[in-house]
Amino acid sequence: MQKFFIHTFGCQMNVYDGQRIAAMLHARGFVETNDFRDADIIILNTCSVREKATDKVFSALGRIRLEKKPDALLGIVGCVAREVGGTAFKRVPELNFVLGPQSYHKLPEILENPDVRLLNIDLGGLEKFDEMPQMDASPAVAYIPIQEGCNHVCTYCIVPYTRGREISRPYMDVVRDTEHAARTGAVEICFLGQNVNGYRYENYKLADLIRAAAAIPNVRRIRFTSSYPTEMTDDLIEMFATEQKLLPFLNMPIQSGSPDVLHRMNRPYSLDSYMEIVNKLRAARGDIQISSDFIVGFPGETDDDFARTIDIARCVKYINSFTFKYSPRPHTAAAIMPNQVPENVKKQRLYKLDAELSEIQREFNLSCVGKTLECLCEGADKTGRHTVYRTPYMQQCIVNTVAGSAPQMAMIKITDANKASLRGEFAE
Ligand code: 5AD
Ligand code: SF4
Repeated sequence: MQKFFIHTFGCQMNVYDGQRIAAMLHARGFVETNDFRDADIIILNTCSVREKATDKVFSALGRIRLEKKPDALLGIVGCVAREVGGTAFKRVPELNFVLGPQSYHKLPEILENPDVRLLNIDLGGLEKFDEMPQMDASPAVAYIPIQEGCNHVCTYCIVPYTRGREISRPYMDVVRDTEHAARTGAVEICFLGQNVNGYRYENYKLADLIRAAAAIPNVRRIRFTSSYPTEMTDDLIEMFATEQKLLPFLNMPIQSGSPDVLHRMNRPYSLDSYMEIVNKLRAARGDIQISSDFIVGFPGETDDDFARTIDIARCVKYINSFTFKYSPRPHTAAAIMPNQVPENVKKQRLYKLDAELSEIQREFNLSCVGKTLECLCEGADKTGRHTVYRTPYMQQCIVNTVAGSAPQMAMIKITDANKASLRGEFAE
């Protein structure tokens, strides 16, 4: 019996790609192992969004190459493969294959021809979606990619290089995948894309996909990630008023609260226009919560610029947000901008912003105490004695029950909260 090992780094899109690769290997008779020493094929499914993410891949490869079975095939797929291309073979001579995020469906070629190094980092568009087998069973939360790549050329971001220009999948293909997921176990659908609200196929937009998913009885919750602010059009905002299955939670990264920094990031929206969208969303759905990604220490960011990021975080009251120190990436304009910010300043700003966001999160979590929320079961916590649920605002809620007997969806009364999570009990 041939065995495969796969380790996925990075975003949900990568997690999805990893699942498709696993399904393909299963279909070829492989079984999965979580010990790479035992595997006949070892795959690192990689992320290159920050330098640290790329470094992690090469340090993992350094370890693996020494301890793997001598004849095991070793390769990288995903964004680092696309970032470094054939130079990966020079850095790690034991590598057998290097396949980009849109060419991993070529993986069988290395199985058929293991003696020849395989390099393919082409941007193959949608080919990979068509050539790979479907997963047999869906997890409760199904991540369904609807578009890939990005046409907004933010000056810090490597993604337009690694995943290419924006391309939307055909409407009927997404509907078919959504129906398949719902039939095989999904109760929550999360539409995915680097610029998900830019989805456009013929006359179809993201709102049409939400309506189609909502019409499937098994589907109880719908969300989408990640959204570009100026593509939050009125028809989509309206969905938060009319479609109750759409969760009252939206990731809409602002990145910075400074107009100057936003300009240098090539994110051409004003704080006023961003706030106008936030206000429209709140008018559509009073309880909607918004999450953001932030970059601190972008080239030229002053103390005053950073203070504006803190201001906007307080003003919007973001929850569940992600913060990053700016990391210069190859193939991007910001990497060669003047006035790069020293590491210690980036560190201090990150610390301050995290503290601020954590306080905002704590306040929101506390405001939920006493409420009853419909939550989705995620499984056992680390101790195995409690069950983790996910609220409609994507907070974790711990319930004192063993996971095996816990209902998949439940009304949960929130009894306690801190900055990281909630506690709750089943409502009568
Ligand atoms: N440095 C730091 N953070 C980055 N991101 C993207 N590129 C970089 C970079 N070069 C962050 C952005 C984006 C998230 C996925 O990663 O905040 O929204
Ligand atoms: Fe990382 Fe971006 Fe690639 Fe996802 S798309 S794996 S976040 S670089």
